[in-house]
Amino acid sequence: MTETSAVSDSAQETEFPIPSGVYAEKVVSVEHYTDRLFKFRITRPAALRFRSGEFVMIGLPNAEKPVFRAYSVASPSWDEELEFYSIKVEDGPLTQHLQKIKPGDTVLMRKKPVGTLVNDALISGKTLYMISTGTGIAPFASLIREPETYEKFDKVVLTHTCRDVGELTYGHDIVAAAKADPLVGEEATKQLVHVGSTTRETSDRMGRITKQIEDGSLFEHLGLPPLNPETDRGMICGSMEMLKDVKALFEKAGMTEGANNRPAEFVVERAFVD
Ligand code: A2P
Repeated sequence: MTETSAVSDSAQETEFPIPSGVYAEKVVSVEHYTDRLFKFRITRPAALRFRSGEFVMIGLPNAEKPVFRAYSVASPSWDEELEFYSIKVEDGPLTQHLQKIKPGDTVLMRKKPVGTLVNDALISGKTLYMISTGTGIAPFASLIREPETYEKFDKVVLTHTCRDVGELTYGHDIVAAAKADPLVGEEATKQLVHVGSTTRETSDRMGRITKQIEDGSLFEHLGLPPLNPETDRGMICGSMEMLKDVKALFEKAGMTEGANNRPAEFVVERAFVD
């Protein structure tokens, strides 16, 4: 090894101590989907308890005061490892480093999981609409492998809208994994429907989800009636603009927003992007 190649491009800078109050976990695997998206799995702290759909704060041990960002846990509450799905932003304070992690590297995680995209924040219903764009699919990757989701709802509709076809791959993978899962596979096969669409590349199904709800093409495609507050429930995860627009459509249909201490017909969470 020459002296110059000894300069590491790794995300790790081990001279910094691990801050107090955080877990230091090991990267188990990393998979890059596109030049904008990747997933990674880390070891799970034995003491961690969380509800499927919640998020945690993630950082790297590369500074005295590491930068932390909110990440939805994309694996279910019963899984032995933790999965995360992330965007890569060239100058993103965290993701410019995080996108370079390798198995064996250390990832920091603050101890308290939180969030509103949880089954507890919804009243029971017949159909649960999980509406996501981009990396907003992450909490639903957790919830579609959670047995309670299928006990609470007869039908689970996961919509995922991305700019192009390559960005839909993770959604196809997690739905296939849920249907093959020994714990929820039978229920997922019967009850889970996945609707992927693109907005900037030609594909079988095109258009923003807001348009598909407004013009009724989503319900036509599913063979389901339009939104009904008596039977339908919703969870929304995407950009701020997308949340605002989908929330307005749910409210127009007569659905009200819920929270952990006040379950109702739909809940909202921002997909946290650098
Ligand atoms: P569009 O291509 O028309 O902007 P991003 O990668 O920028 O987060 O976008 C993910 C997906 O979310 C894209 O398909 C994008 O469509 C869509 N999108 C962006 N803003 C909204 C919105 N306000 N309502 C619904 N979908 C949106």
